[in-house]
Amino acid sequence: MGKDKLRKFSEIDTFPNVYQLELGKVMKGNWAKDHFKNTHPIVLELACGKGEYAVNLAKLFPEKNFIGVDLKGNRIWRGARTGVDEGIANLAFLRIQIEDLLDYFGAAEIDEIWITFADPQPQLSREKKRLTFPGFLAKYKILLSPGGKVNLKTDNDGLYSYTCEKVDELGLVSHKKTADLYKSEFANEVLSIKTHYERIYLKHNKNINYIQFSFP
Ligand SMILES: C[S@@+](CC[C@H](N)C(=O)[O-])C[C@H]1O[C@@H](n2cnc3c(N)ncnc32)[C@H](O)[C@@H]1O
Repeated sequence: MGKDKLRKFSEIDTFPNVYQLELGKVMKGNWAKDHFKNTHPIVLELACGKGEYAVNLAKLFPEKNFIGVDLKGNRIWRGARTGVDEGIANLAFLRIQIEDLLDYFGAAEIDEIWITFADPQPQLSREKKRLTFPGFLAKYKILLSPGGKVNLKTDNDGLYSYTCEKVDELGLVSHKKTADLYKSEFANEVLSIKTHYERIYLKHNKNINYIQFSFP
């Protein structure tokens, strides 16, 4: 591992807004009370990378709490550093495998989920790794409070179609969907927040897909 990565790894250990692996489990069911010291709703950004959605949503919505989730500590470092430097009190990060979410959050503890430019896992053999595979959706359903929404933004047309198919097959409620967000009626301040990966795709004129759905 490079020196910079190692430095970031050891630095996030000292950040008050980052929880890692086992340390995060004690927060299950109590994130608002124990970390944020309030009773505000909690929003997750899954596959957050550097956490642009979590950071920008936290600034836009101070009355909600935001937690970015990713396995890569050197990426989380970027968002967490911004949170510390700018004193963003309603922002935290959790470094875990998304597969293990149920070990870290209680039933109905989450108000909304964002999945931002997740790895599309195009090979059929890796379907179970797609963050909108039914196994993941079943976990989100447990974690979300009634009516809680899932938002998926992706450059990947295959992951978008796959997600739309699963939403239909499983009888979920689709609220908004478009294969070209920035040409659609849905483009607004929130949906125009751009992540690191999104900026790269936009440079190549890639269309950005978006779907918002909930569980009946
Ligand atoms: C393509 S990057 C997108 C990062 C960021 N959302 C963006 O748009 O710039 C995908 C991210 O998902 C994370 N990731 C993928 N699968 C994961 C999993 N099962 N658990 C935790 N993190 C995962 C990777 O570590 C990576 O940071």
